[in-house]
Amino acid sequence: MELGLAVFILSLPFLSITAQSIRFEIESGQAKCLSEEIRINSMTVGEYSVVNPNEGHPLPEHHKIIVALFSGSEKRYHHAELVESGHFALQVEEEGKHMLCFKANTHEPAVNTTVEFNWRSGVTAKGWSNVATKDSVDRTKDARANQVYELHYGVYEFVFIVYLLVCGGIATMAS
Ligand SMILES: *[C@@H]1O[C@H](CO)[C@@H](O)[C@H](O)[C@H]1NC(C)=O
Repeated sequence: MELGLAVFILSLPFLSITAQSIRFEIESGQAKCLSEEIRINSMTVGEYSVVNPNEGHPLPEHHKIIVALFSGSEKRYHHAELVESGHFALQVEEEGKHMLCFKANTHEPAVNTTVEFNWRSGVTAKGWSNVATKDSVDRTKDARANQVYELHYGVYEFVFIVYLLVCGGIATMAS
């Protein structure tokens, strides 16, 4: 039997789905991060979008966001630069905390950008569609979201800023 399959079967009783669904504001140039414990080989699925302050008009450039998802060892799984919405659906290769950060585009004077975000993680690619019904997501989301958010905000914001600085620096050097 393949090792991967054996691990999957052994870990079945411990499988869980976690979900966060929140709406929050970010001031121009600022970053906010959320973290989530994710099991190795689990699927993690996220969707985010900026709430357009002037419905029916294109989203102004200064309301666009930069988004990045990292593992605990700072492997980057997802990155989007100045977008108004996006999503990711992937299988993580590392056990433990992952963090997702949003940074609002800079603007003077500062404005608030509202982001809506939904994050679900759990099980494997195969099990996912069976287990992650809307109900199971709804049950867990409200209790968890704000709590996790408050707890990890500071540390991850710092890591994210460092990450942006380092990657920005490398991109500048390369060009
Ligand atoms: C953004 O919203 C926060 C509270 O949600 C508020 O304290 C802050 O003053 C707002 N910033 C701007 C620029 O409106």
